[in-house]
Amino acid sequence: MAIYDQVLIIYGSETGNTERAAEIMASVLNRQEGIQAETMNVGDLRVEEKLKNAKAVLMGASTWDHGLPQDDFKAFMEDVDAALIKPLEVGIFGFGDPEGFPEAFCGATDVIRGWLHKIGATVVGDNLRLGADADDVRNELETFALRYVGIATDLDPTHVIN
Ligand SMILES: Cc1cc2nc3c(=O)[nH]c(=O)nc-3n(C[C@H](O)[C@H](O)[C@H](O)COP(=O)(O)O)c2cc1C
Repeated sequence: MAIYDQVLIIYGSETGNTERAAEIMASVLNRQEGIQAETMNVGDLRVEEKLKNAKAVLMGASTWDHGLPQDDFKAFMEDVDAALIKPLEVGIFGFGDPEGFPEAFCGATDVIRGWLHKIGATVVGDNLRLGADADDVRNELETFALRYVGIATDLDPTHVIN
């Protein structure tokens, strides 16, 4: 039994990598019986409306500017009504470059976590921090999404249900 039956995945993505990751996670979740997952760019004007009916939300952003969330995500954090964020149970994922920015690798995920804690939202699990093309880390993404909904506990990524 999954913990959540509806998952909203919102992302901030400059060149499409985090967006692709969101699609990969939605796809594995939608293949599970009884779960519906949907992705939405955090810059989409419908995000607030979606959040009103959400409980389970995965938030993803790439890191730019030495440790900051991608611009759309940064704007979302500044503008969104905190009352919409507080009731959420959020899993956090992000992409960065560990070689180019070792001191700020995936810093956006830490910023988002701190912001959620400050608002009083529930953060589920550890941040997923990835430094590759989304398609090259499909297993990590699928396992993260399945763990988040409580289907996979200690799953070997090669055994993810397809
Ligand atoms: C100008 C520039 C600045 C970046 N700054 C960081 C950084 O501070 N930390 C990090 O981990 N990655 C950094 N990156 C790497 C990106 O986060 C990485 O390429 C990511 O996969 C982009 O994902 P997106 O297409 O979803 O935006 C930077 C990349 C560029 C081109």
